[in-house]
Amino acid sequence: MSGNTTFTMIKPKAVADGNLGNIIAKIIVGNFKIKALKYTRLTKEQAMKFYSVHSERPFYNDLVKFMTSGPIIAAILEKENAVDEYRNYIGATNPAEAAKGTIRALYGTSIEANAVHGSDSDENAIIEGSFFFSEFERFL
Ligand code: RTP
Ligand code: MG
Repeated sequence: MSGNTTFTMIKPKAVADGNLGNIIAKIIVGNFKIKALKYTRLTKEQAMKFYSVHSERPFYNDLVKFMTSGPIIAAILEKENAVDEYRNYIGATNPAEAAKGTIRALYGTSIEANAVHGSDSDENAIIEGSFFFSEFERFL
């Protein structure tokens, strides 16, 4: 059975471009309920840990550098079938390939600076949400 919770980040470039409000509004319009939200900045150690699954990939070092380059938003979202619904809503990893009207198509500027993160499984939604919100269960 699919869960009702996912986790998102609004990435540094989208925040720096002034698209924070637009993206939060778009999340709400998509009927994702914001259960917790934090404006923060990742340390290098945090970014390395968050993306450790990609540590062998060629883009890992650049990704860590990018994700620590400025403030981000971290948020826990609720909707039925949240993980799949949100990944459809944000669009493909590469904004150039993302469907029209999706968050990445609208606000992403490159495959790296693709505006937002979305968890890829129920299990990772819990792991990633817990990474930013120590009392994760309280927000469900
Ligand atoms: P995310 O985890 O951020 O929701 O994105 P995703 O599942 O669609 O993509 P994933 O394969 O998990 O990659 C994580 C993030 O790494 C950056 N990336 N850069 N330069 C590159 O070729 C490349 N490929 C991926 C993106 O920021 C991507 O979201
Ligand atoms: Mg991913």
